[in-house]
Amino acid sequence: MKKTLIITTLCSLAATVTNAFAADKAPTFSKAAMNGEQVYNAVCVTCHGHGLAGAPKTGNRQAWAPLIAEGYEDLVGSALTGVRMMPPKGGAPALYDIEVARAVVYMVAQAGGQFPEPTDYNVRAARLDGEKRHAARLKKAAASRQ
Ligand code: HEC
Repeated sequence: MKKTLIITTLCSLAATVTNAFAADKAPTFSKAAMNGEQVYNAVCVTCHGHGLAGAPKTGNRQAWAPLIAEGYEDLVGSALTGVRMMPPKGGAPALYDIEVARAVVYMVAQAGGQFPEPTDYNVRAARLDGEKRHAARLKKAAASRQ
């Protein structure tokens, strides 16, 4: 009788420890990644659909041509870290980086451009690029306040 109790206790203890480790591995939420059009319709359309706050309007080739010329890393980097009135990730921090990149590729396509398919590798490179430019802007702003 006693032995069974000990074994039962040990088993439930082991289960608790295992669960704790499992929880540790996935401390945040997980969700299925959306495609570019879904992200656009969920978040980006708010500003880009109407050109709000000076946002380049979706499908306006003239507005997008000079941006497209800046390249994938520049645009995806800016969309991830923010630029002027454009908030990081369009103000939706729960989006995965790759979802934001897909939305950029979608908007570029609406303006007749073609960017590469986002991958973990090229999205990481774009984020680093965006962060570097963001840090430079902060440094410049701090210097101008002195
Ligand atoms: C709150 C309004 C707002 C939302 C929402 C928004 N944007 Fe923007 N976005 C802007 C504005 C304003 C600019 C123009 C920034 C500038 O150049 O001054 C901009 C510019 C951009 C640019 C050009 C960046 C560059 O290098 O000049 C990209 C790319 C972009 N947005 C992508 C997105 C994506 C992708 C989403 C959705 C995930 C999104 N935006 C959601 C306001 C928004």
